[in-house]
Amino acid sequence: MEKQFMSMREFIDIPDMDTHASVENFERFKEQFNHNKTYPYGFMAQSAVGNKMTVKDYYTHEVFETTSFVSNNYLGLSQHPKVKQAAKDAIDKYGAGTCAAPPIGGYIDIHKELEEKLARLHGQEKAILFTSGYSANIGVFQNMFNKADIVFADMYVHASIYDGLRNNTNVKIYKHNDMNYLELVLKRSQGKYRNMTIVVDGVFSQDGDLAKLPDICDLAEKYGAMVFVDDAHGAGVLGKDGKGTLDHFGVENRVDLVIGTFSKSMGTAGGYIAGSEKLIEYMRHFSRSNIFSVSVAPAVVAAASKAVDLFSEEPEHIKNLWKNTHYLKTKLADMGYDTGHSETPITPLMIRDDEKTLSTARKLLENGIYVVPAIYPAVKINDSRFRVSVTAQHTLSDLDKFCNLLAKINNEYGLGISRNT
Ligand SMILES: Cc1ncc(COP(=O)(O)O)c(C=O)c1O
Repeated sequence: MEKQFMSMREFIDIPDMDTHASVENFERFKEQFNHNKTYPYGFMAQSAVGNKMTVKDYYTHEVFETTSFVSNNYLGLSQHPKVKQAAKDAIDKYGAGTCAAPPIGGYIDIHKELEEKLARLHGQEKAILFTSGYSANIGVFQNMFNKADIVFADMYVHASIYDGLRNNTNVKIYKHNDMNYLELVLKRSQGKYRNMTIVVDGVFSQDGDLAKLPDICDLAEKYGAMVFVDDAHGAGVLGKDGKGTLDHFGVENRVDLVIGTFSKSMGTAGGYIAGSEKLIEYMRHFSRSNIFSVSVAPAVVAAASKAVDLFSEEPEHIKNLWKNTHYLKTKLADMGYDTGHSETPITPLMIRDDEKTLSTARKLLENGIYVVPAIYPAVKINDSRFRVSVTAQHTLSDLDKFCNLLAKINNEYGLGISRNT
């Protein structure tokens, strides 16, 4: 009988099975990977997350020295001496944590300074911080809308937006970047709702392509909708001095809200939203994931703040990132690999077969390359790939090593993952 490949999705909600039974059953999902050691979620690093990582094997506990492509630390700033020093200085002055939510004692001067810096970065009036990009999206979408409203979301927006939208608002998911369909649903919805809002990622996190922001803004203006952009992967990467996707397209004044995170090019952890003064003031009082959660730790605030300064003070990081991005994409294309429509450092190396993706990831790891396989349900069925994240820290020889090893594995095992094979 043909082997049935189970995905995590099948274990989220098994009818008639209580939690204990589901948990037991989940072990079956994990066991299917054991025969070729390909369980994709068990790696642990014993070093900083960067272009070189020491990774402990989930199965053998062997330790591999790897060249790594798993990090969103695009500019390498999590390791920058000035960023680390800023974090240490903040700990000396403010201690390790605030131990209070922002409205009840947890708001300190460096929170405000960073908010002002982030608002300027995105060409907005004000900003407010959250403990993660995830909780920023929850705070926005859970609390701003209800069933009087409708949100139009590109089907590839981040999971945190989907989770935020699990309130009782009306949601229309539209085909990725399909402007004709977006116009159709806007037209149909006009006059029926209190608010119409379009939400997109500026840079889509699995495919690395861009939202069509000028077209989206045209449509929003035509039909009276708001535009919200999650720019997690655009800030520090696109636009002048890393100002992000809005600057890249020149639409800062045409977007109502920007959502961001410190966990990518800002090299730390935390999130924010930026928009008009009144909108942000409103969210400061009604965004529950901000009000009922501790404020961002001082070390994190200081590190993110220094990282944002470095976008313009040390432009060589963004320059290196793009040099590496172009080098890798050109090389993979010359080798005949399919890297989708990415226009950014996120490079999807399409394999389109779950088992091949997982076994290639294993072989790469055993040969000193650490790269994350993305399989269903993280991506669509038959859309499995490696999400190769290029950073400013990589050297050209790191990139060559990856390409050469991939070609060797591809030839040796007949993976057939290149148009040239
Ligand atoms: C587009 C997008 N939005 C939001 C997030 C969540 O950010 P954080 O890691 O800060 O929770 C991510 C993280 O992967 C992301 O890619």
